[in-house]
This record gives sequence, structure tokens and C-alpha cells, in this order.
Amino acid sequence: RIVYMNGSYVAESDATVSIFDRGFLFADAVYEVTAVLAGKLVDNKGHLARLERSCKELGMKLPVSADELTQIQRTLIEKNQLTEGGIYLQLTRGNEGDRDFSYSDDIKPTLVLFTQQRALLDSQAAKEGIKVISMEDIRWRRRDIKTTSLLPACLAKHLAHQAGADDAWLIENGLVTEGGSSNAYIVTHDNKIITRPLSNDILHGITRASLLKVAEDCQIELEQRAFTIEEAYEAKEAFVSSATTFVWPVVAIDGKTIGDGQPGEIAKKLRSTYIEMVL
Ligand code: PDD
Repeated sequence: RIVYMNGSYVAESDATVSIFDRGFLFADAVYEVTAVLAGKLVDNKGHLARLERSCKELGMKLPVSADELTQIQRTLIEKNQLTEGGIYLQLTRGNEGDRDFSYSDDIKPTLVLFTQQRALLDSQAAKEGIKVISMEDIRWRRRDIKTTSLLPACLAKHLAHQAGADDAWLIENGLVTEGGSSNAYIVTHDNKIITRPLSNDILHGITRASLLKVAEDCQIELEQRAFTIEEAYEAKEAFVSSATTFVWPVVAIDGKTIGDGQPGEIAKKLRSTYIEMVL
């Protein structure tokens, strides 16, 4: 793979980062994942706008503009002949040659991008749905910032896999926040989509924002409110959304079958309409 690192396109084996990089030492870094379908960036404007917001919240400076980032992403797609998958982008606060909690304001950031070839359209999870288990959400209180502090998500997914499930749904004060790396939704028996409203408790999903518009266009009712895991057990459907999954139906939660155990009609409709729209 050819990757991008601080202004250069290099072979992945030549892209190295200092052990003093704050991304490595403190997870002092933000990231974005943009899907690529048929060689085209999906919902990328939203991802870059969120990146700018994450940077602003943490007082980090992007060394290149959003337009230049888009150009870098397109160049990487071309150099790697990426047709379907994603582009990962990470910006760390940089490195000042030692380990020190505090940092200076003129520190030079590290910017890295690489491509990942993956089948997004033809996915077994999309066709059959996934199983999730719920667990306590142990993350910090600024989940709206897309930082690389992903240890809670790694642990949650590992626990889920050990339990024979595909992913986790995270719970705080009895209410579902989101999935391990996705936004979470249920559908009531009168066909209304329920999803948690935006706040610092969840990541403001770019796919979520698009799906809300798709739901409106399809005249599917939607209510933004928090829901309990017990409500989810009784739901007609459940699903998750993210850049890497688009929409994946959830067919079991904590071993309880959701609906008839098959991907729900609304989840399928949202997935197909979203993909049609972005292709
Ligand atoms: N994760 N919530 C969390 C905690 C996430 O990590 C993600 C995305 C989402 C969905 O956001 P979006 O629709 O903008 O991708 C929600 C990415 C895909 C990842 O970490 O790989």
C-alpha cells in the first residue's frame, strides 16, 4: 500500500512515527473513517467537517485544508486502485521529543492517511444481521469528539466476540448510548425509528445524519430519544449505522431474538436507499 504521511506518499513500510508522538503515548489524536464505494468517497464532506470540529474542541490545528485533504484521499484511492472499502485519516497533536503531559501550542502535528480494501456492499452481516450484547459504557464524557482513545471499544468488542456475539451495545444509566463503533436504533411495533439525540454522550455519526434524511424522504417516522435495553429487547427491529457498515440489522440482543430474528424491513429499506443515494 502507498500511504500518506506528513506531506509525502510513501510505501507503508517506510511510514514510521516517533515513539514520542503524543498519539502513541497519550492517544492525543483524532481520526475519521470515510467509506469508498466504486472508487468514490461517501459522505466525505460530513467526515471532514466533523474532523475540523474534533480539532477545534481539542485545540489541534489541521496542517492542510479540507479541500487538500480531499485531494490527498483521491490520490490515495488512485495510487492504491481502491474500489471499495475505506480511507482512514489520523491527526495526532505531534511530538516534542519526550514524554510530557503538557504541550506547547506551536507543536507540529502528525497527519497519516491509508486505504483499506473491504467488501461493503456484499456483506454477510448486512444480509443476515448481527448479534450484540449489552455492557456498561465506560468511556469518557466527550464521546462527541472522535479521538483514538478506543480502548473501551476494543475491550467491549473483544468481550462481545468471546461471548459469541458480533458487537456490543453500550449502556449508561440504564439507557443505550451507542454501539461499539456505530450509532444504535430500534424500531417500534408501529414502525417508528427511535435513536438517541445528539449530545456529548454519543458520536455525531455522519451516516446517522444521512439516514435521518433518508427516513424523512421515505416518510418513516422517527423520534430522537434515549431508549432502554429492555425496550430494545421488545422492539420490532434494531440496527446500527456507521461509515464501515452503512446499516446493519441487529437480530439478537443479549441472546434475545429481535422481531422474527431476520433483518427488519425498515433497516433493509434504509440500507438500500442510502446506498442508492451515495453510489
Ligand atoms: N466508527 N459511534 C461510534 C462510537 C463510532 O466509533 C462510530 C464510527 C459511529 C458512527 O459514525 P459514522 O457514521 O460517522 O461512521 C458512532 C468508525 C467507523 C470507526 O471507528 O472505525
